[in-house]
Amino acid sequence: MPETPCCGIKPGEENLAALIEEIKHYFNFLAQAGCRGFDCSEKSLEIVKSWGEKRTFAAETLEKIRADLGDCRRCKLCETRKNIVFGAGNFRAGLVFVGEAPGFEEDQKGVPFVGAAGRLLTRIIQAIHLTRDQVYICNIIKCRPPKNRNPMPDEIESCLPFLKRQIAVIRPDFICTLGTIATQTLLETEEPVSRLRGRFHDFMGIKVMPTYHPAYLLRNSDKKRDVWEDMKKLMEAMNG
Ligand code: URA
Repeated sequence: MPETPCCGIKPGEENLAALIEEIKHYFNFLAQAGCRGFDCSEKSLEIVKSWGEKRTFAAETLEKIRADLGDCRRCKLCETRKNIVFGAGNFRAGLVFVGEAPGFEEDQKGVPFVGAAGRLLTRIIQAIHLTRDQVYICNIIKCRPPKNRNPMPDEIESCLPFLKRQIAVIRPDFICTLGTIATQTLLETEEPVSRLRGRFHDFMGIKVMPTYHPAYLLRNSDKKRDVWEDMKKLMEAMNG
């Protein structure tokens, strides 16, 4: 099999869904061009190969999503933010942590969970025998709300499509939602985290474990035990 197939897609470079999508486009393109079967002669393959080299496919990547976000002006948070906090970690992660919104330090650095809550999240990740480089960390919204207020519905609505695209590209096996906003937004519910945590839910076909937000744990250390129970369930499922 040639290293780069005629349609120009490099296997392994993109996720399976994007690959299938490109193959579908390519077959449609052939059908529209009048193709009703396959001629695999040397000459035809050469022609098809040259099409692949000329044609560019816009397969989805985190870089493309970041580029589409640009210097985002889709909501009013653009007026007060310093940096867009896109997300950080491994684009092949099996586990994605979704928080609420960047805080002061995240806004300064453009990196999620680098303040006090972030340091606790790092310890939680280590407690499940992973590192920050092995998971992906992001938030429901990518810009800091003034004075760390809760994100408003219009801000979530503007930002959520980008998060969904990030998750679709990474295609993790598991998501851990941190706190009320992340949990209720992804699960489209108004149930409190206290009733949702401790068991798996579904988002885009991915298993979701809701748990308390690390910032909440800093104020309510008695809830750490619950988070540890949630993390043990996550670990068991990931290793099973
Ligand atoms: N809290 C969040 O929800 N996200 C961050 O990135 C930092 C603090």
